[in-house]
Amino acid sequence: MNNGLPRPVTAVVIVAAGSGERLGYGMPKARVPLGSDAILTHALRGVAAAGVARQICVALPPGDTVLQELCAAFAEELRAGHDDNQENPLPVLTTVDGGATRAASVRSALAALLDGTEAVLVHDAARALTPEYVFHRVVDSLAAGAVAVIPAVPVVDTVKMVTPTTGDDSSIAPELVTGTAPREELRSVQTPQGFRLSTLIQAHQAAADFDEKQAAAVTDDAMLVELLGVPVHAVHGSTQSLKITTPLDLIIAEGLLEGPLGIRWVEG
Ligand code: CTP
Ligand code: MG
Repeated sequence: MNNGLPRPVTAVVIVAAGSGERLGYGMPKARVPLGSDAILTHALRGVAAAGVARQICVALPPGDTVLQELCAAFAEELRAGHDDNQENPLPVLTTVDGGATRAASVRSALAALLDGTEAVLVHDAARALTPEYVFHRVVDSLAAGAVAVIPAVPVVDTVKMVTPTTGDDSSIAPELVTGTAPREELRSVQTPQGFRLSTLIQAHQAAADFDEKQAAAVTDDAMLVELLGVPVHAVHGSTQSLKITTPLDLIIAEGLLEGPLGIRWVEG
């Protein structure tokens, strides 16, 4: 539900330029079928259904005409289903060439946002089943004054720190436990991650000069904003927002789609 505060003019960036190595389909993950549609089509439908975007900007693998055509077909689907009397105007759909890393793909999309954009949500195409209410929670938190806000869920496993064993110890086991993180303070974080646009641009400018090792350690946008010292807030995400990474994840996502009540049967 909208918290009643005026929402910022928002763009949603969908990063879909990855190669999908771990899924192992021999094609970019965004193209992989999930039910009867490609993963990217599900992600686009979820973003459009949330109704929070003035612009949707998709970062695609450079030169991928299949995904360019998929986006063009989706733009047509949006136009056909749009009624001028609807509260939300039709979002502008833009595509850009992604980069070699996820962060480079985000930067490429940020450079293509329309003038007047105040806030941006960065969303993984691989989180194709994210419910609309997660988008709303993120945007409403921005409307309430957050500069950066991420959806998060409690961690279910106990999480430990380890170090490789050395010398005689290495014949006992490959790793030694050095500590246990307090689980009640841990969260698994998801997308869409929301930011004031100027803050995310600043964070990504700082990261553009990272060396290869530093760049490889960047796994989400919020960590770049944390490096600026800007507070990052968290709202509740959804277990339905799983990132389709491995073949097992795809089976789970298929199961969610095929559930007796469709994707709505999983809550929270
Ligand atoms: N992504 C991107 N540009 C890249 C790398 C990743 O836009 N250079 C996007 C992916 O398309 C995905 C999201 O970032 O939607 C999260 O990345 P991940 O799940 O790692 O996807 P892939 O990089 O495609 O998968 P893998 O790491 O197994 O190759
Ligand atoms: Mg990857």
